[in-house]
Amino acid sequence: MAKLQTTYLGLSMQSPLIVSSSGLNSSVDRIKKYQDYGAGAIVLKSLFEEQILHEVNHLEKYSDYTEASDYLKHYVSANNVNEYVNLIRNVKQEVNIPVIASINCISDSQWLSFASRIQEAGADAFEINIFYLPLDPKRKAEEYEHIYSSIAEKLQKIITIPIAYKLGPCFTNPLNVVENLRYRGAKGVVLFNRFFEPDIDIHAMKVVPADIFSNPSDIRHTLRWVAIASHLIPDLDISASTGVHDGEAMVKMLLAGAKSVQVCSAIYRNGPKHIEVMLNTLTDWMNQKGYKSICDFRGKLNVGSIPDPTQYERSQFMKYFSNYE
Ligand SMILES: Cc1cc2nc3c(=O)[nH]c(=O)nc-3n(C[C@H](O)[C@H](O)[C@H](O)COP(=O)(O)O)c2cc1C
Repeated sequence: MAKLQTTYLGLSMQSPLIVSSSGLNSSVDRIKKYQDYGAGAIVLKSLFEEQILHEVNHLEKYSDYTEASDYLKHYVSANNVNEYVNLIRNVKQEVNIPVIASINCISDSQWLSFASRIQEAGADAFEINIFYLPLDPKRKAEEYEHIYSSIAEKLQKIITIPIAYKLGPCFTNPLNVVENLRYRGAKGVVLFNRFFEPDIDIHAMKVVPADIFSNPSDIRHTLRWVAIASHLIPDLDISASTGVHDGEAMVKMLLAGAKSVQVCSAIYRNGPKHIEVMLNTLTDWMNQKGYKSICDFRGKLNVGSIPDPTQYERSQFMKYFSNYE
């Protein structure tokens, strides 16, 4: 019989499925349900750097930063560090699965000193979600990327629980960003975050929010980079995120070398029981293939384990499909 137990960031988990950071994880009752359906861990909804600072005046410096003004309108009154700390304490009292705290940040400012309060509340690990939309044409990519290294360097001096960094999908060299984080003490990376995106309604002639949920085909970008990074940076745990909607997608990510997979849109769409459905697919597949544990097959199809790694490295349609008509 297949066993789904595994580890991520050194934490023992009953399965490799993690419920992603989002409003899905904002109450103890829901998190208990995810545990009962077999989730290996949960990542709490993000506490925003701006919430931690809790100084509305301080936000003036972000006045051109749209998410900060959204936060001012909707978030500041309802959330703060104390609530977050209490949520961690309450969840830890009620569930046995690892509870990963999440901070969404855009700088290496004094918010870092509050991170230890979250650690003291009993979080098992941190997931740090860094994203700064690069809107200044004169600012070099390396200046933006320096924010990542600087946060990791400073956080590492304060925090003793494992830290994973949740990265966006767009870097010139994602492996270099991942390697820099590993060098600065990261135990894992989440590849990749998916951001709120705009769309255009051509009939109403206005800019509108795009669908907030992902689609199953969105796994492909993540699949490529999990397969490459798990081979080239093997001592870092990778959690695969974006587009994991069913058990088959979870199997693919594990074969590509992920230590865990994160699921968000599919749980929003199908409800918590979908966790059990996905895990049943994983168990059935393992039984069919004769795998007894996750480590029997994890990474079996990453870049270093297949005869033709160019399958992951091919990028130009013109070069490989020029006869396709
Ligand atoms: C409604 C909603 C809220 C989210 N909130 C957060 C958040 O607070 N922090 C975070 O790091 N990611 C957040 N995310 C991103 C998800 O954690 C996840 O990375 C992303 O949706 C990709 O996974 P999926 O394809 O399974 O949806 C949110 C996503 C959605 C749809």
